[in-house]
Amino acid sequence: MSTAFRWVAQARAGRARAGHLHTAHGVVPTPTFMPVGTVGTVKAMTMDAVRSTGAGIVLGNTYHLMLRPGAERVRAQGGLHRFMDWPGPILTDSGGFQVMSLGALRKLDQDGVTFNSHIDGSKHRLTPERSTDIQNALDATITMCFDECPALPAPTETIAQSMRLSMRWAARCREAFVPRPGYAQYGIIQGGTEPELRAESVRALTDIGFEGYAIGGLAVGEGQALMFATLDSTVPLIPQDHPRYLMGVGTPDDLLGAVERGVDMFDCVMPTRAGRTARAYTERGTLNLRNARHADDMRPISPHCDCLACSRHSRAYLHHLFRANEMLGPMLLTWHNIAYYQRLMRGIRAAIVEGTLDAHATWLRAQWAMDDW
Ligand code: GUN
Ligand code: ZN
Repeated sequence: MSTAFRWVAQARAGRARAGHLHTAHGVVPTPTFMPVGTVGTVKAMTMDAVRSTGAGIVLGNTYHLMLRPGAERVRAQGGLHRFMDWPGPILTDSGGFQVMSLGALRKLDQDGVTFNSHIDGSKHRLTPERSTDIQNALDATITMCFDECPALPAPTETIAQSMRLSMRWAARCREAFVPRPGYAQYGIIQGGTEPELRAESVRALTDIGFEGYAIGGLAVGEGQALMFATLDSTVPLIPQDHPRYLMGVGTPDDLLGAVERGVDMFDCVMPTRAGRTARAYTERGTLNLRNARHADDMRPISPHCDCLACSRHSRAYLHHLFRANEMLGPMLLTWHNIAYYQRLMRGIRAAIVEGTLDAHATWLRAQWAMDDW
């Protein structure tokens, strides 16, 4: 088996693609959803539970791990795979986005960002080189470029300047990246919702040349229609034989629409965060298990789910756990939500391979619009 990092197409349906991502840490079928493991844990989940849902790749965060426990400490423990007991592929976000959303007193300059830790206020600095070095120390299978992501809406000129800064940083990230067989670095396309700026960003990144291309700066308040319009204009510009990753997205409906527009990879806190706040994703939309109507409901959350919550417990029990603030509630419901997201992606992949994506998409949307069973 060759260990070269590559994405191999298996089937296409319109612009949607099914394929396999070959990495140093295993093969992942795409389109894929990556559960978020920000600080080296998919919150409330054991790694065996994450594996049991069929997840093939998880995400970690440079920003959080550099602050605690520190990248050098993780390196000394044998890398993030060993540290968190996830031998499969790990993608790490670069910290650019998290500094902007979490870091206090941040100061941006052409060289990088200085910020204060959200944990203890201590002063830190991230540059393209430092972010890339940290991701290398963590032993990330997929390293992301250090970028800047402006909040939308913003004046076009602000978005253009920010995108061009991210493109200069991308070149520096590529220089700092240590290539290894089966490892990859992805560039991040910026440019807000302006097709011209997105096109300029794709050209800048493909001139540098990366193993994969991410679409950043979306799902930041622009709404689904503008996000889809941006994908419609941007994704066709990305080289066909490289994986495409839409960062920080999204709802099941967002994922389906983005797959139809040619996206291969996703990550989002939605299923894990919702699981901690009693919100269940199902084939028939979402449920709030704190709601009194579940108190005597002996049915599982979903009749189609093989997660621990659905195979062994009732809605009534989950309702009780959340009302009593028991930690098993978030544990079981996070498991269920991740299982749902993985089942959704498996179904979409199968439909692309079988040539039935349109019918499958119609059926999924009709089900989501239906009331509970
Ligand atoms: N996560 C969600 N959006 C973004 C983005 O634009 N850049 C980075 N680095 N991470 C993200
Ligand atoms: Zn379930």
